[in-house]
Amino acid sequence: MEFSELVKSRRSCRSFDETPIPEEHLQAILKAGQWAPSPLNLQPWEFIIITDPTIKTRIKEVAEEARQEVIDKNGPGWVKKYEMQFLQQAPVLVVVTVDLSKGGLGDFFGQRTGAIQAASACVQNMMLAASDQGFETLWFTFFQPEKLKSVLSIPKHLEIAAVIPMGKPREAAKAPPRKDPSVHREQYSK
Ligand SMILES: Cc1cc2nc3c(=O)[nH]c(=O)nc-3n(C[C@H](O)[C@H](O)[C@H](O)COP(=O)(O)O)c2cc1C
Repeated sequence: MEFSELVKSRRSCRSFDETPIPEEHLQAILKAGQWAPSPLNLQPWEFIIITDPTIKTRIKEVAEEARQEVIDKNGPGWVKKYEMQFLQQAPVLVVVTVDLSKGGLGDFFGQRTGAIQAASACVQNMMLAASDQGFETLWFTFFQPEKLKSVLSIPKHLEIAAVIPMGKPREAAKAPPRKDPSVHREQYSK
């Protein structure tokens, strides 16, 4: 797909059908992630591919616990209606972990987010690659990190950048509107 069309048509998907993702497509998606930029080219990401329904169910349980926590703390009303069936529907979940110690030289300058920035670029590359191949994705973060790390046996020194359910959308999602970004010239100005 043409690039400017691809970046606009990629859509967060919260309802998938059962069409599997062929291995060669999955590999192409991971490859796109691998080619993301990173500080000192440290490539702080690792990927966990999940297709086992039992593990998907465990992930959904962790997400449901987080949802309940938000409800118990009087969080926003929409959370009560937020269903996370997509965690079981999606044929594949890709979990992207990030090693925060691989942030390059940023620590010298008070920039501590280099690894997260790199992992984010990696996630976006994968999401665009998936869209390009006719699949859709969701950047999912609605969970207590420590609980999900325990479910997936992720070592303590790693964090979770994203859980990415991916597959064929059950229905086309509407594009949430974008606001015009503030663009400044030469200097930040009010
Ligand atoms: C860091 C990050 C975390 C997100 N976490 C969630 C999430 O936990 N659940 C969810 O449904 N969407 C999540 N989203 C998706 C956003 O809601 C979505 O990108 C936004 O509404 C714009 O819609 P679009 O992706 O279709 O353009 C997340 C997006 C980002 C970038």
